[in-house]
Amino acid sequence: MTAFRLTVLISLFTHGWIQAERVYPSPKECENDSEYWMKLGEDEIKEALAQPRINRFAKNVILFLGDGMGITAVTAGRILKGQKRGFAGEEGYLTWERFPNIGLLKTYSLDKQVPDSAATATAFLSGVKGNFRTLGVNGRVKLNDCKASLKEKNRVKTILEWAQESGKETGLVTTTQVTHATPAALYAKTPSRKWQCDTRMKGLGGGTESCKDIARQLVEDEPGRNIKVIMGGGRQEMGSPLAKGEKEGEGGCPRGDGKNLVDDWKSCRKNEGKTYSYATSTGELLAVDTENTDFILGLFGDVHVPYEVDRDNSSKGTPHIKEMVEVAIRRLRRHDKGFFLLVEGGRIDHGFHYSKPKRALEELLAFEEALEKALELVDLKETLVVVTADHSHVMTINGYPERGNNILGLIETSEDVSDGLPYTTLMFTNGPGYNFTWNDKVQRRNLTGVNTGHKDFVSPSGVPTREGGETHGGEDVAVYASGPMAHLFHRVHEQTYVAHVMGYAACIGPYDGCVRSVRDRSNAYTTLCD
Ligand SMILES: *[C@@H]1O[C@H](CO)[C@@H](O)[C@H](O)[C@H]1NC(C)=O
Ligand SMILES: *[C@@H]1O[C@H](CO)[C@@H](O)[C@H](O)[C@H]1NC(C)=O
Ligand SMILES: *[C@@H]1O[C@H](CO)[C@@H](O)[C@H](O)[C@H]1NC(C)=O
Ligand SMILES: [Zn+2]
Repeated sequence: MTAFRLTVLISLFTHGWIQAERVYPSPKECENDSEYWMKLGEDEIKEALAQPRINRFAKNVILFLGDGMGITAVTAGRILKGQKRGFAGEEGYLTWERFPNIGLLKTYSLDKQVPDSAATATAFLSGVKGNFRTLGVNGRVKLNDCKASLKEKNRVKTILEWAQESGKETGLVTTTQVTHATPAALYAKTPSRKWQCDTRMKGLGGGTESCKDIARQLVEDEPGRNIKVIMGGGRQEMGSPLAKGEKEGEGGCPRGDGKNLVDDWKSCRKNEGKTYSYATSTGELLAVDTENTDFILGLFGDVHVPYEVDRDNSSKGTPHIKEMVEVAIRRLRRHDKGFFLLVEGGRIDHGFHYSKPKRALEELLAFEEALEKALELVDLKETLVVVTADHSHVMTINGYPERGNNILGLIETSEDVSDGLPYTTLMFTNGPGYNFTWNDKVQRRNLTGVNTGHKDFVSPSGVPTREGGETHGGEDVAVYASGPMAHLFHRVHEQTYVAHVMGYAACIGPYDGCVRSVRDRSNAYTTLCD
């Protein structure tokens, strides 16, 4: 197969799906010329030399968190982005990949080499590492240990609390439940991320009754009750009536105490004499008067917000993440003292757990559009924008597809492969796509003619897992930053460093008043507590 051959096989399936297996052309004839690469390098040197360091305070801080968006996912997303526009794809960049500063983050939790989203969110939002599946508490709190989680000295403060204490406004936007691990790490202190509602806390033995579920912490307690903008899914966890026809999705938590926390949230606003809007559809969200509303709550799913590939994009349907971000920023940027906003592309992770790369990567590209919208609405001279992931996944990009080969497609043959069968470029070391048969020897599935770009195609894996059970990966994730103090990301860092940079840039929390002491820990392999 030649590199730039354009092969388009389009077949219309009975259920209306169009399959397109393509080898994309490279649009740049000049790529064969040395001059092209020499000029590209020179231009990039000039750009690097001219790169200003913005040493000012960050009035605003926005953290864009792609859940499960490891470096492999970013590369694959970059290629898909280009291919959707008709390019080969490899030569392009995602928006955050043009940010001036990047670093790598170590994602391990105190008790696991490969972490979950709760321990990692605690790290990058509070600056302190904790244990697997715990939120807002330090390493003294083990999973499900309610008693230890109630001790003040075991609880950690987060960037959300630092921001509120300094008079900034705060918001969160996610495509998962608003009580899911990443957003919950902003406001909840709990020994289990599963305690999203009361029913998940039952049957765990002594002491759980004195702990409060995550949804109640969001609505009833500081700092959750002060969050000006809350958007995501989670009507079920909030005890609000479910939309007709929506089933309990993966990881849902139906309340058992009969509370309707959306009504409680509204009463709270009324008692405070504040204006508020509650939205459950795109139409309702876009109708919010962002200039005159104090608090906004948007719940766009009984459990999670629908995947981008499934979304009803009518006004009765659910919003694109960029629409949520636009409303959130229009509301938050009114405030003179600035704001902190977390935006989570939460279902990139879900797509990968199901080993469905199309789902995950479309979520990633929607997340990128949300970032672009944010960059239109803020001034980077006074806003630190950080883009990162909590952890990776066990997906890899197999060798050696031709340049411009469909990133969701097959590598037809490779002389290195001994069974002569095609294989997908994107594959998982473990996951639900394990499918081998026995015919005198172990045989892989022959994927010839299979629409591997379908949103529900499950990519092959080497170790079987339950459905949705593909695991996280343990290599470092990247952090990309632009705006004031973005240059503080510059090497391999602990993931906890993200909270410190955000706090330092904005002069809040432990860096309140901006006493800028710097300790040099240069390059030693040290553990600071021995
Ligand atoms: C680059 O050169 C190769 C070898 O001659 C050729 O096959 C290919 O089409 C060229 N690429 C472009 C973009 O012109
Ligand atoms: C895989 O399937 C295709 C189409 O059915 C067939 O042409 C090809 O020979 C098969 N490959 C092997 C190695 O069996
Ligand atoms: C597993 O592979 C066989 C062919 O080898 C195929 O018929 C079957 O549909 C596959 N199962 C799944 C769940 O993809
Ligand atoms: Zn996950």
